[in-house]
Amino acid sequence: MASLKGRNALVTGAAVGLGNAYARALAKAGANVAVCDVRAEIDELPAALRGMGVQSAGWRGDVSNPADVRRIVDGAIAALGSIDLLVSNAGIWGGSVADDDLDKSLADYERIVGTNLKGEYLFGRALIPHMLAHGRGGDIVNISTDHVHTCGTPFHVCPKLDSCPWKDAPRPTAGGTIMDLYDAGKWGLHGLTFAWAKALRPHGIRVNAICMGATDSNMLRGFHNFNPSPEEVATWMKAEDSAQVLIDLLMEGPGGRTGENMNLCVGRPTRLEPALPPVYILAEDIHVKA
Ligand SMILES: NC(=O)c1ccc[n+]([C@@H]2O[C@H](COP(=O)([O-])OP(=O)(O)OC[C@H]3O[C@@H](n4cnc5c(N)ncnc54)[C@H](O)[C@@H]3O)[C@@H](O)[C@H]2O)c1
Repeated sequence: MASLKGRNALVTGAAVGLGNAYARALAKAGANVAVCDVRAEIDELPAALRGMGVQSAGWRGDVSNPADVRRIVDGAIAALGSIDLLVSNAGIWGGSVADDDLDKSLADYERIVGTNLKGEYLFGRALIPHMLAHGRGGDIVNISTDHVHTCGTPFHVCPKLDSCPWKDAPRPTAGGTIMDLYDAGKWGLHGLTFAWAKALRPHGIRVNAICMGATDSNMLRGFHNFNPSPEEVATWMKAEDSAQVLIDLLMEGPGGRTGENMNLCVGRPTRLEPALPPVYILAEDIHVKA
């Protein structure tokens, strides 16, 4: 099992929610942590992380803006010396349906796909050359959604809940109907995950996705007109438990899994399950450098 002590991580969208829990868990495990977010609360996080005994630096910036991505990545490398762990977590939710108006759809596309797919694409493009150049391997973890594995429509907005045979999660593999663009962006993320896993495995860089189910966060509580019952809230996962899954994944080290979508789903224990046999990447696709 690999130690994270002294490793250098970059976590996007770390001001609140899951990203904040990932950054704190990494610092607790001894990693130095660079962070970024559009929210002002990000300004306070580096001091809190330094108080845990590690190096830290932070930036305000928009992951969908290439100039911000360049500034954050260059700043993180300058502040910590190098980066070998990228947690691409920044994400937003937005409702969109198949017959939406075209003008609304274009704005939704820029906003939702801009953050949830383009942002992770830009961070990968900005960091991968650096990771290849330093030659120490590392990890990229993309934060996705359990919609890749389940229907994904939140119970409180599902118009067909009474007749849903899967209202006691876990639900079946598919996308939902009220967030086609969110789902499309996250599915696109898996294209990057699998392609990067194949391309980077020879260099000791693993690329995986964690597909989150309902987790108590600003995002989940921010759904419009959402007034969840205490019973429903009690079913949600805790960001700290999901962060432990990230730590356990990273501690697998260079010999661990790559190219896997790990599903953390309400109704199941929040833990790192044993690695699956390669599903999306065949063993022969992974060419290890001679
Ligand atoms: N909470 C859930 O139930 C859930 C379920 C499935 C997937 N996810 C995924 O988990 C990730 C984290 O979600 P969360 O629940 O912690 O959400 P959250 O809203 O609580 O936190 C997301 C963070 O990302 C930041 N962010 C958003 N857009 C950004 C941008 N363009 N540039 C920089 N920072 C930006 C936000 O300011 C915020 O700090 C997201 O990718 C989300 O899609 C969450």
